[in-house]
Amino acid sequence: MPVSITVNGVAHEVDAPEELPLLWALRDHLGLTGTKYGCGIGQCWSCTVLIDGAPMASCSTSLGSASGKAITTIEGAEAAGMGDLQDAWVAHGVPQCGYCQPGQILKAGALLAAERNPDDAAIDAAMKPVLCRCGTYARIRAAVKSAAGGRA
Ligand code: FES
Ligand code: FES
Repeated sequence: MPVSITVNGVAHEVDAPEELPLLWALRDHLGLTGTKYGCGIGQCWSCTVLIDGAPMASCSTSLGSASGKAITTIEGAEAAGMGDLQDAWVAHGVPQCGYCQPGQILKAGALLAAERNPDDAAIDAAMKPVLCRCGTYARIRAAVKSAAGGRA
């Protein structure tokens, strides 16, 4: 029986088992390939999505458990109010290879939704789970601060 999920405000019926990791439902069934596969075991957070506003590792979240909730992927970040963050990412030249960046932006979006002006320690603590093998952490911090500063 198909599983109903709502992604970026659009309702979908996914013909897959409820236990399928949400990551693969997004990528393989819905073609939303902005959500990246890194480790598959909840350790790198490159697969971050927001579920009812909370960052979740989609590789470790079942499709069934996400049913009935609001899922936001990087493709819906601008519509979800993260356009200023994306602009700051560009202005600060944050990405290197880019692979981890969808997860970084969504995690930063959740941080700024919870805390309007986080200090360095709060930014570092919030962003730490999302691993970046290119080492873009200093630019991530600068971009988050820049986006936070631009908010009323
Ligand atoms: S791919 Fe999900 S945490 Fe690494
Ligand atoms: S930009 Fe390459 S892994 Fe983060």
